This record gives sequence, structure tokens and C-alpha cells, in this order.
Amino acid sequence: MKIKSAEFEKSAPTLASSPRWTLPEFAFIGRSNVGKSSLINLLTERNALAKASVTPGKTKLINFFRINTNWCLVDLPGYGFAKVNREERADFNVAVANYIEKRDVLIHLFVLIDSRLTPQRIDLDFLRWLTGIDVAFSLIFTKTDKVSSAVVQSNVALFKKTIADFMTEMPAVFTSSSTTKKGRQEILDFIGQELAAAKGA
Ligand code: GTP
Ligand code: MG
Repeated sequence: MKIKSAEFEKSAPTLASSPRWTLPEFAFIGRSNVGKSSLINLLTERNALAKASVTPGKTKLINFFRINTNWCLVDLPGYGFAKVNREERADFNVAVANYIEKRDVLIHLFVLIDSRLTPQRIDLDFLRWLTGIDVAFSLIFTKTDKVSSAVVQSNVALFKKTIADFMTEMPAVFTSSSTTKKGRQEILDFIGQELAAAKGA
């Protein structure tokens, strides 16, 4: 999959105000500050397409980016914005829950996890909720440039072992870094396969 064009389309506060189109969508969710917006910029090789920031809670709306004119990347607001939530809970907003549960053009959801950390309650709670929803998803372990590959491997292995307790099928797992560009091609190729499968369906 090659990205020829990437354009910001719309910011929507709710599912109802999302674009009325039939373009297949790939969305990014995960804890606030995990690197969702940075990953969209990495995939599209546009440095400031999605707004990234050191301040958690930067992305507050559902942002739609049209790619190669015929499919779409969606940047979702993160869950567990530490400054507003004293407790570590997966209390992401209603608009995001609605989008994930009801958006009929959503083909695949990428759940981003910080590769530096051992499994966190907030991500596990989110994944437990997600297993009850009829949506295809995979995991992307982000910020791999910030720790050794041994730490990344051990955290990924521990995460998989933990979710195996409540998931019957293991999702696909990617590792990424917006600094070294790790994971970029693998994720784009995966998107290409999913698009081809969706077309054939
Ligand atoms: P919210 O919109 O607040 O939910 O955050 P987000 O998940 O979109 O995170 P964002 O992309 O804004 O990144 C948060 C911070 O982490 C920024 O300072 C990024 O530069 C940094 N960051 C994101 N990905 C990486 C990465 O792979 N490596 C490194 N070193 N830093 C990263
Ligand atoms: Mg963001």
C-alpha cells in the first residue's frame, strides 16, 4: 500500500456528525498520549496532518483523514486522560464508544498500547469491553524507540498472555515507532490486505 494523497476531511464531535460516505475507515484508539496522532502522521508521512502533542488529551474530536481519495484514517480521542480522571478507568467518551459500536464503514480498529509498560488496567478494561463488540481489531505497541527491544518483547509477550485469559482469538500485533518509522510498512500492507478483502466481500 502506497499513500499518494492524505487530506484532512472533517472533525466530528459525535457519530451523527461523522461524514456520510461509504469510504472504508481504519481508526486508532488507545490511552491518551500513546501516540495515535503521531502514528497517523507516520503512516501518511505528513508531519502535521494529525495534531500531536506532549500534553495528553490533545485530540478531542473524531478526526477523519481521506487517503488516496478512496479510504480513510480516523484519529480518535484517547481514553484515560490522567488530569480529568483520578482513577485509571477506560472511561472514554460516548462519541468514541458510539463510533466503535455503530459506525458501519469501520473496517478495522487499531488499539495502541505503550510498549514501555507492563500490561495496564486501563488498556485491559478497554479490550474487555471491545471483545463484546462486533469489530475487527489489532494491537500496535508504540514508542519502541524509547526502550530496548528486549523490554518491548517482554511487555508484548506479557500483554498477550494476559489478554489470552479473556480473548478466544489472538489479535494481530504490530510494533511501531514514529521516530525510527518501525512498523510503517507492515501496518500499511495490513491495511492494503484488509481493503482488498473488504472489496471482495
Ligand atoms: P491524545 O490525542 O492526547 O490522545 O494523544 P495521542 O495518542 O494522539 O499521542 P500523540 O501522537 O499526540 O503523541 C504524544 C507524545 O508522544 C508526543 O510528544 C509525541 O511526539 C510522542 N510520541 C508519539 N509516538 C512516539 C514514538 O513512537 N516515539 C517517541 N519517541 N515519541 C512518540
Ligand atoms: Mg491525538
